[in-house]
Amino acid sequence: MLETLTHKEHDETRQGEAYAPFANEINLFKKHFYIESYGCAMNFADSEVVASILQGKGFGATKNVEEADLIFINTCSIRDKAEQTVRKRLTEFRKFKKTNPGLLVGVLGCMAERLKAQFLEEEKLVDMVVGPDAYRTLPGLIEEAETGQKAVNVLLSRDETYADISPIRLNSNGVNAFVSIMRGCNNMCSFCVVPFTRGRERSRDAASIVNECKDLFEQGYREVTLLGQNVDSYHWIDEQKNETVTFAMLMEKVALISPLLRVRFSTSHPKDITDDVLFTIAKYENICNYIHLPVQSGSSRVLQLMNRTYSREWYIAKVNRIKELIPDCGLSTDMITGFCTETEEDHQESLSLMRYCQYDLAYMYFYSERPGTLAARRFKDDIPEDVKKRRLQEMIDLHRIQSLHSMQRDVGKTFKVLIEGTSKKDENELQGRTDHNKVVIFPKGNLSKGEYVFVKIISCTAGTLFGQPITT
Ligand code: SAM
Ligand code: SF4
Ligand code: F3S
Repeated sequence: MLETLTHKEHDETRQGEAYAPFANEINLFKKHFYIESYGCAMNFADSEVVASILQGKGFGATKNVEEADLIFINTCSIRDKAEQTVRKRLTEFRKFKKTNPGLLVGVLGCMAERLKAQFLEEEKLVDMVVGPDAYRTLPGLIEEAETGQKAVNVLLSRDETYADISPIRLNSNGVNAFVSIMRGCNNMCSFCVVPFTRGRERSRDAASIVNECKDLFEQGYREVTLLGQNVDSYHWIDEQKNETVTFAMLMEKVALISPLLRVRFSTSHPKDITDDVLFTIAKYENICNYIHLPVQSGSSRVLQLMNRTYSREWYIAKVNRIKELIPDCGLSTDMITGFCTETEEDHQESLSLMRYCQYDLAYMYFYSERPGTLAARRFKDDIPEDVKKRRLQEMIDLHRIQSLHSMQRDVGKTFKVLIEGTSKKDENELQGRTDHNKVVIFPKGNLSKGEYVFVKIISCTAGTLFGQPITT
């Protein structure tokens, strides 16, 4: 499968997951919902907000789709393939409607926002279409749908951040949690549908973010990932203290909760990441030395068409600055091949930039034209699909070699690892992550989930490090 690559958290085409936080309490609720999520981490975080809203109104979650009274599918529109996956899944839900005629099916998220009421015409079995800023109205929409009417709310908001809603952690390992710090996006990258599906950028109240992270820590969580499409433009005006909280300040507040709480963040836009952010990462041991800094292309000409507002040289200077201030900083990226007018030379520039930056991880996609975006309106999608895919494959091949080298460089070194649970392959082994977000497998001993341990790396594959815990 060409389009899907590497690491789960960023794999926007991955299969959805069903959630069951209250599987043993299933009989306490009159009705049950089943929710499946697709897309980016923000969508998964939104599903946890939806679960909280529904539970507050007496609906219980189930992971068994067959016993659900309500099925929700939280959708992604980023590439055509993501939408096809959702449509396929919706046809599979049809059979449950046959056996349970009272069953309601709701479409949430970016595809709901993009297609609006048109969805109801295209997919007859859908009863509710609810955009990302309208989840508070879900209980009323469910009531409406229960009367046999189709229910739609796709209004975007300028201020909704769901700041006061405590998400219900779904399918959680109890160690890592996503925390949304902002919504929407004000950038207008020409290929991207997100500004249309998520609306204007708005930041969430800093105090509510810090409180959510504190609560998580008290519940035993040991890592939070602060989420936004462009975290570096976070800003919140605290009127009581008369201060503007920047992203660097927010990170510091979260890092100060406890040295035992690891802090990650995603995504940084190269044009917005500041020295202040880099100094803050360098200052706090518990802020991971790892930056996801999507470049999209290595060609300044293509970057301009993409409206990314930086050039190849500017990006390289930013990477150099990161390495200067945080010498051992891990770096990952997103890349698109076959954007409108991309030549073989442009493609070679993307490959050479990847060689220069030596990314630890890269999420690579071929360009998928999205209706309504600037690129769809202005440029012809003129690179044949076989060329887009061939270039993507060349990029993947290069990255495979680079990521293997990145892993090999770690063999013989010792890393502080946060234990996330038992290894999927062997119950006598544990799995955790380094600061650089690399997966490490090691023998269990007396160690358990949520603890930190120093592990000496003995061997590796392109995706995993294997080691021995160091006992002090
Ligand atoms: N806000 C982040 C940023 O600016 O880097 C990420 C946004 S998007 C959710 C994740 C990635 O999907 C993008 O970085 C880009 O590489 C990819 N993407 C977005 N639109 C695309 C399209 N039309 N075709 C292919 N890939 C796309
Ligand atoms: Fe899309 Fe660009 Fe916003 Fe990222 S920064 S969500 S790529 S418009
Ligand atoms: Fe997809 Fe929407 Fe996220 S389009 S990548 S779910 S913001």
